[in-house]
This record gives sequence, structure tokens and C-alpha cells, in this order.
Amino acid sequence: MTRPPSVCFGASALVSLTLVACVATTPPDAIPDIPLTQPSLACGASSSLLSASSRVRALVADMTLDEKLGQLNQAAGGRSKTLNSKLTPEELDKVRRGEVGSYLHVAGAEALGALQQVAVEESRLGIPLLFAMDVVHGYRTIFPVPIAMASTWDAADWESAARIAADEATASGLHWTFAPMVDIARDPRWGRIVEGAGVDPYLGARMAEAQVHGYQGASLSAPDTILATTKHFGVYGAPAGGRDYGSADVSERSVMETYMPPFYAATQAGSGSMMTAFNDIGGVPTTANETLVDGLLRDQWGFDGMIVSDWNAVAELMNHGVAATREEAGILALRAGVDMDMTSGVMSGDLKRAVSSDSCLMHDLDGAVARILTTKERLGLFDTPLAYHDPAREAASLLTPENRAEARRIAARSIVLLKNDSGALPLASEPQTIAVIGALAEDRLTQLGSWRAQGDQEDVISILEGLQAHAPEGTVITYAPGSHPTDYDADAIKAAADIATAADRVLLVIGEDYDLSGEARSRSDLSLPASQQALANAVFSTGKPVTVILVTGRPVAIETIAGRANAVLNTWMMGVEAGNALADVLWGKVSPAGRLPADFPRRTGAVPFTYSEYPSGRPADPDITKDSNRYHDLGIDPLYPFGYGLSYSDFTYDSFTAGAAEVGANGTVTLSVKVTNSGSLQADEVVQLYMRDPVASVARPRIELRGFKRLSLEPGETRTVSFTVSPAQAAIWRSGNDWAIEAGDLEFMVGGSSADIRARTSVRVTDTGHSNAPAAALETKVDVQ
Ligand code: BGC
Repeated sequence: MTRPPSVCFGASALVSLTLVACVATTPPDAIPDIPLTQPSLACGASSSLLSASSRVRALVADMTLDEKLGQLNQAAGGRSKTLNSKLTPEELDKVRRGEVGSYLHVAGAEALGALQQVAVEESRLGIPLLFAMDVVHGYRTIFPVPIAMASTWDAADWESAARIAADEATASGLHWTFAPMVDIARDPRWGRIVEGAGVDPYLGARMAEAQVHGYQGASLSAPDTILATTKHFGVYGAPAGGRDYGSADVSERSVMETYMPPFYAATQAGSGSMMTAFNDIGGVPTTANETLVDGLLRDQWGFDGMIVSDWNAVAELMNHGVAATREEAGILALRAGVDMDMTSGVMSGDLKRAVSSDSCLMHDLDGAVARILTTKERLGLFDTPLAYHDPAREAASLLTPENRAEARRIAARSIVLLKNDSGALPLASEPQTIAVIGALAEDRLTQLGSWRAQGDQEDVISILEGLQAHAPEGTVITYAPGSHPTDYDADAIKAAADIATAADRVLLVIGEDYDLSGEARSRSDLSLPASQQALANAVFSTGKPVTVILVTGRPVAIETIAGRANAVLNTWMMGVEAGNALADVLWGKVSPAGRLPADFPRRTGAVPFTYSEYPSGRPADPDITKDSNRYHDLGIDPLYPFGYGLSYSDFTYDSFTAGAAEVGANGTVTLSVKVTNSGSLQADEVVQLYMRDPVASVARPRIELRGFKRLSLEPGETRTVSFTVSPAQAAIWRSGNDWAIEAGDLEFMVGGSSADIRARTSVRVTDTGHSNAPAAALETKVDVQ
């Protein structure tokens, strides 16, 4: 476990980055006035230590080894319903002794204020604590689950929800959230697909930066902004077989072009912390991956924030089989660049001997401590440690009518209309009997989804309540639960079919409950649970017109169900305003304009799949008798593709033109298109720009998203949408953070989904060039006239 003297970054590297500097260079104006451990040639030092404020450097110089190690310790404060339950008198003594840097799973302005007071008044150096929680899609006002938030295709909606979540969480004494989760997920068997923005790096990058802006606001030191954690750095979203925590065996190109862009975008947006993933990439656990963490993230991208491990992940390096002892595990994590150890206690408890005898490790430790203290300083905790602990503010801030209104607005915007035969929706306002069938219609907890912070199911307007409250006069709502995803009651299903028979039409509420997606909730079968399938069959047999209200945390395989339904609305899990938001869409107050951020497969066997694959030498041919890149027993197209979603209105696209036929490698070109609402209702359209590089030095995806704009149009209204792109957005990963811009044609396509391309044009890139950013992370400027 000794560092090879001539190696700057770990030999166990996934990505063959060309790293130019391994020695900490000390610019003249950053020479420390306080002596710190000096990096040796072989230390792979990070300059963040030297560039810290004089307060932080003074503290680091004054700290004992135990106090330094204590800062690396993030301890668990309790579980969500009994928050702070582990903060026993013995725990407070640890705070007094400086053995804890942060607590997670804690909350409450007053309780945390008292704890903070102990830290700043009764510990030797008065270093404040950091209080953290997974505030992922709302704190008390729970918004739709993240995959639904991405379905809005409007980054401003995510930013607004994150801002509200930050305001509420900080009012409750929290400084730090473990969000955004930006892992690209192309295999919906993986339960954590619900937590992210889906399959696409460009969409993912926009949603990532929006959340960072929303959480952190203009200044981290304001008491209503919260430190964001972009997670789970590495390739957590591609575990083998979709099984959570599993190894990602992906190519270097995929790492850089597909999985890294949202992380890069979040870094550029100023994300103050990052979390390393549990899993490994080709055998290198990211929590021990010095090349990726210290190398790519810190040295090449310039990330200067704090890095936290995932829960117990440092100790789990032993399970991975890359460390034999806790000490070895801690050394690997510290060297890789992890600053704080979430709950395993390894970095605080098992490293003393190693750092005392290895000056490089001591130097790494000082860097980690400096970054933790700098983060506390950025949050304003040294100057105003009790700014987050005002119980009056807490009482006034949570679940306000304004916050609920925003949750309702955004939830309605996240709903995706998948099918609408013969104008089945919106529902007519004339008198009729509507049977609401399915126990999910009453399941409030499910609407809160995975990660619900302080969300309370009592706050939720259920689907049934929303429909009952908003049904037009003369509409009679009947209800039968049939079965819940977690049970199978044949008699109840039969009773539900009888209620359906007596109605004019059926709203069939089926899908997954909250516990079927999320962490450690991977599924091998993407069809609906058996009870839901049986309930659907019974209801379809009545012959009544059926609208399926799909509740789910992942793309599911519903080909047969969708085939028999008149209409399908995918509602994901909508948060506290679920029922109200659904009613807004069903009765046409809001025309649905959510778009899928992930393809829906026809069957489980078709995953993993994305719209953005390489073409192959024998591109998929619809003719099954030909040897091509497709299944023999299943259409290659997904049931519903990326970017898909219907509207109550119709849209036409005209005059798609490029402002120039040619562009230099470092230039920009503007592509414009006229979009008209040709229907009779006010509605939103999501105008989508795709790109393809038809001939390059390596095969390129058959189509890639490079821009989008959600537009609201009155009937008959036309707007011109302009997208300004640069060739760097088509750059190809080479190595050493060098992205090649190749000369040649680029094709651009515009349309209403990845499978609904309405117009194409080409632009010639006249020369070659270089870029230093992941292509999909770069944002296309959009203008609407
Ligand atoms: C999850 C993280 C989360 C952490 C703390 C882990 O199990 O993977 O996403 O932030 O727990 O709750």
C-alpha cells in the first residue's frame, strides 16, 4: 500500500487520462503563511489546501491529528421518522471532543441549533457541524419524483422546485442536501432510474445544473440556500443486469461521452460537493479511483468543493476486494480524493497510524480537512453558525400555499400523454359516471415516491380526492380499489369490474407502488405486478372506454395494456399535489406536454436500450428476414421513444434553416424553425433539436439530443425557435481531456420526439479543432421570437 514514487495518479485507473502535473505548484501569491505539511514530489497534491483562506489554514495548522480525522467523520443522526434519535449524551461528548464533522439524517431548527451550539461553544476549536439530509425532490412540499421532474423538459421547473426545497430544508436547520442525482440510466430494471433525469446526457446536464442553481442560489452563505451534492460520481447508473450496486463494465468512450456530462455541467454550475458512487467501473471502485476523482474531477475539471463517500462505501472497499483491512480501505479513499466518510468511521477511526507514518497521506488529510472547513466557511457557518436555526422561520416556511401551488403546477407539467385515441381526453364536462378503479388511486404514500425527506402522506391530495374535488357538475365518481400492486384479491378485482360495468367510462389507476423503485429496488421483469395486470384485464373485459392512469417510478413494459386502452397518461409519482395536478390535465385545464426522458420498452428483454445507439454495420431493418441489428421476435423500436409525449393540440414545423452552410471549428451556427399550434387549444410543445455526425473517425450515435425548448402557444400562434450550436457540441472523446472537433458534415434534425423528426438540414464544419469539455455538457443557446 505504498505510493509508487514516480506515479502521480493511481495505477488502478479506468481512464487513461494524460495528466500534465503531479506536483503541487505554488503560485507566489498563494504561498502559505502558516506551515502545513508540504507535498513531496510523489504526493499528487492538490492546491486546494494552499489556496484556502487564512482562517482555514490557521485552523488546520492548529488541529491535532484526532481533530483532523474527526472532521472526516459523517455520522448518522437517525432515521427519517425518528430524526436525531442517535444524538445521545455520549454522541454530544464526541462533538465536544471534535470527533464529528457532520451529521446526516437529522432535522429540526431548534434541535440542530442546540447541537450546533455544543460544537461551536464547547469543542476546543469551535468548528461548526454540517447537517445533511437527502432532500431530493422536496423537503416537506414534495414535488414529483426526479424522473418526472425531467419529464417537464423545462430546467426552470427543476430550479424552482429545488429553490423551494432549499428554503424549506434550511429553515429546518439543514446545510447540505445529497442531490442532484445525475446518473444516466439506460436500463429501467435499475430501481434508481426514478431518481435521475433518464437516459440522455444533454437533458441530464441541463437538469443537473438547474438543480445546483436552485439549491445553492446566488450565494451559499445565505441562510436559505443549501449545499448541493452531485451524485453518484462515476458510472453508478449502469450496473450489470440493472442490479443496484453492481459493476459498470462500460467503455472509456461511454464513461466520458454518456455518463460524465451531467457531472461536468454540475461542476460548472458550482456544485459545492460531490458524492462518489458505491460501485466499480471495470473493477475500480470509484471511491478508490484516484484517476477519476482527484484526476479528472479535481485537476482537469477544476472542481474545488468537498467530496463525500456514499453510505459505508469506504468500508465496502473491502467487500469489493481492493482492500484487506479498514486501514487499507481508508488509505485508498483518502488518496483517491474522498474528503468525508459517510458513516463507515474508517477514515476517522482507522487511519491514524498510516497518516502518522506517511507524509503524503498526511498531506492528503490536510487537503481533505481544508476542503471540509472551506465548505463550512462558504456556508457562512464560522461567522453565523446559528443562522439556520430559527424555529419561527421553520414554522412559517414549510408547505406554504405558494409552495403547494408550485408543486401542483409542476406536477401537471410532468404528466406525459402516451396514447389518446379518438380524443378520449380531455374528459368531457357533460354529466357522466366515471369509475375510478385501482387502489393506487388512494395510495398517498406512493405519490411521495422514493426519498421523501419530511414529506408526510397526510399532506398528499390522492388521485381519488383530486378527481372527486374537481369533477364538473353532473359527473358522478364511483370507486373500487380492485387490487394494490402489493396484494392480489380476486374478489376485489371482480367487484371492481362490476363498478366499471355500471359506469360510462373508466379511469384505471395501475402501476408500481413507491416501494418498487428506488435504491435496492431493481426488478427483473418490467411488466406490471400480477395484480395490476389482472385488474386491467378484468376492466378491459367490460368493454367500457378505459383511460389508464399509469403510476410508476420507471419505464414499464405495458404494450398489451396500452394496446387495449383508449388513452394512457403516464403520471409517474406526482408529489403532494398529485390529485389536483391530474385533475388539471384530465379535464383540460392544462394540455399535457411532459415528454419521456427515457424510452419505454416493449418487453423487458429489450433493455438496456436507448434511442441514441450506434448504428452498427447492419443497422436494424424492419424486415425480420434480413440479418440486422435487431431481435428476431420483437420490433426494434421502443413502445414509446425518448422525447415522446402527445398533446391535446397539434403542431406544425416549418422553415427549418441553418444560418450558414459552413462553420469553423470554434464558431457557432444558428438553426431556426417556425412552430405553429395548428389545433384549437392553448397548449405547450417541446421543440427538440437532434444531431448526427454521419461520418467520423469513430462511429457516432444514430441521433443525439442537442437542444430543446418547451413553448406555450395559443391556437394558431406561430413562434420561431432558434438554437445556436457550436461544433464543440459534436466533439469526440480522445484522451487526456482532449475532445476532437472533426471537419465534415453535421446533420441537424428538429421535431417533436426522437422518433418524430419533422425537418433536417446539414452544416459543414470546415476545420478540425479541440475542446476540453464533454460535448453533451455544453448548452445550446435557445431564443424564441
Ligand atoms: C444512497 C445515497 C444517499 C445516502 C444517504 C445511500 O444509500 O446511495 O444516494 O445520499 O444513502 O442517505
